[in-house]
Amino acid sequence: MIKPEIVEAKQVGEIITQIEQNGFTIRALELVQLEIEDAEEFYAVHQDRPFYKDLCTYMSSGPVVAMVLEKDNAVAEFRKFIGATNPAEANEGTIRKQFGKSIEENAIHGSDADETALEEIEFFFPGMLE
Ligand code: TYD
Repeated sequence: MIKPEIVEAKQVGEIITQIEQNGFTIRALELVQLEIEDAEEFYAVHQDRPFYKDLCTYMSSGPVVAMVLEKDNAVAEFRKFIGATNPAEANEGTIRKQFGKSIEENAIHGSDADETALEEIEFFFPGMLE
């Protein structure tokens, strides 16, 4: 998921270009405006963390770009490609290093496990996996 500040900054195309150049195939793509309740559901795992409320407000502040990407070992490969959660700690060349502004406005989300990826695909593209 490409986060709102990137849509606002008109950098979606640059990031999608890098996604494709790094061997990921786009299987689904949609521009979506999340309501705050949607963001709360998506990030429910973080509901007891101090940053949860701000994160959900931010993630519903403008449209995001949701994608289903395919590659061998896609989850681990994509996490390596996007870099550490905090852009300041992300490796050179990663998406978060290049485009992230802060630990919250860190440009992009990637599923953290295959199981989560299945849930997140169902969240954005219901029925796609049936
Ligand atoms: P997390 O799942 O820890 O990171 P990742 O996105 O790399 O899987 O956190 C989810 C999102 O929550 C993260 O992308 C940005 C936000 N966040 C904050 O705003 N502050 C924080 O201190 C942390 C850890 C995360």
